[in-house]
Amino acid sequence: MASRNYKIAVVPGDGTGPEVVAEGIKVLKAAASKFGFSMEFTQFPWGGEHYLATGEILPEDACDTLRRFDAMFLGAIGSPKVKPGILEKGILLKLRFELDQYINLRPVKLFPGVETPLAGKTPADIDYVVVRENTGDVYTGMGGSAAAGTPDEVAVQEMVYTRKQADRCLKYAFELAASRHTAESPWRGLSEEDRKAGYTSQLTLCGKTNVLTYVCGMWEKAFHEMAKQYPTVKCAYCHVDATCMWMVKNPEWFDVIVTTNMFGDIITDLGAMTAGGMGISAGGNLNPDGVSMFEPIGGSAPKYTGLGVINPCAAILAAAMMLDYLGEKEAAAAVEKSVAFCTAEKLKSLSAGKMGYSTSQVGDLVAGNL
Ligand code: IPM
Ligand code: MN
Repeated sequence: MASRNYKIAVVPGDGTGPEVVAEGIKVLKAAASKFGFSMEFTQFPWGGEHYLATGEILPEDACDTLRRFDAMFLGAIGSPKVKPGILEKGILLKLRFELDQYINLRPVKLFPGVETPLAGKTPADIDYVVVRENTGDVYTGMGGSAAAGTPDEVAVQEMVYTRKQADRCLKYAFELAASRHTAESPWRGLSEEDRKAGYTSQLTLCGKTNVLTYVCGMWEKAFHEMAKQYPTVKCAYCHVDATCMWMVKNPEWFDVIVTTNMFGDIITDLGAMTAGGMGISAGGNLNPDGVSMFEPIGGSAPKYTGLGVINPCAAILAAAMMLDYLGEKEAAAAVEKSVAFCTAEKLKSLSAGKMGYSTSQVGDLVAGNL
């Protein structure tokens, strides 16, 4: 039986990262004592301040060190004092790539009591998951430029995918879709005929096959080939521009969406806003065979740093995703439920400074109501 003592690498990072991570850890400790497991936290100082003080972005052996942990918990990376790109590429993207965290899992879920900008939509309408491929696409950085500084300057940055990258991401998405619902309790968006046909869930491939014929064409082919192994998953396809449209107009049409890295980056910010914003949006960078990293998807929010007003719910939900991933399903569900209790009954707003509670009081509320 797997050990229920988990070693967690913590990177609080920049800005409000340390404040929200502290609340995540508070809730994790409370969950551990309630559900009978233990967690050991080891902090790493990487981020903007560390870089400015030492000149080091990440130590040479960072990934080897991190591979010895069961999971990673990250606050936020990014500082207004450092040129854009250095920390993002040097820390966040480097960790995702080197640790081969090829899935970026981002739930889009409207919690009870949370205001959505989508008129008339309720928690029953906004409850899906985006599986964003996390290692390929324009993010590989393949490209270059020539004749810089002249009117003939030219720049290319290529959308790059291998079939293997598409296949492993699709496999994760199909498995997730297949296990998200059961025959007894199928996804609410299926029609009577769909149910009779044996479907329990839906997986939507989001691409742009009308323009990116090579890359998205390869994904689409791989998608339909793999679909044969998942008879309970109803397959759908949606161009990325139309996906944005439906995410706003009919979010209830989605169950699981799988997409490429850049499209996934963009649509998950849109999804986060429809579910109440960055204060409540969490994600996991997963390597199903390695070490995974969980983070609130918002940034370092420099202007709120140190004020104790930032909403820690996103970090707490990232912690819940981590528990789920580690196999502590009951604890994960309890944390999520406790957050839902707070959004429904306690918090006045999800926005920084308007919650009616301080950052650490929100952590206390979630921990206390487990
Ligand atoms: C995200 C962020 C990152 C990304 C940036 C900071 C490199 O926007 O996690 O979505 O583009 O993946
Ligand atoms: Mn992003």
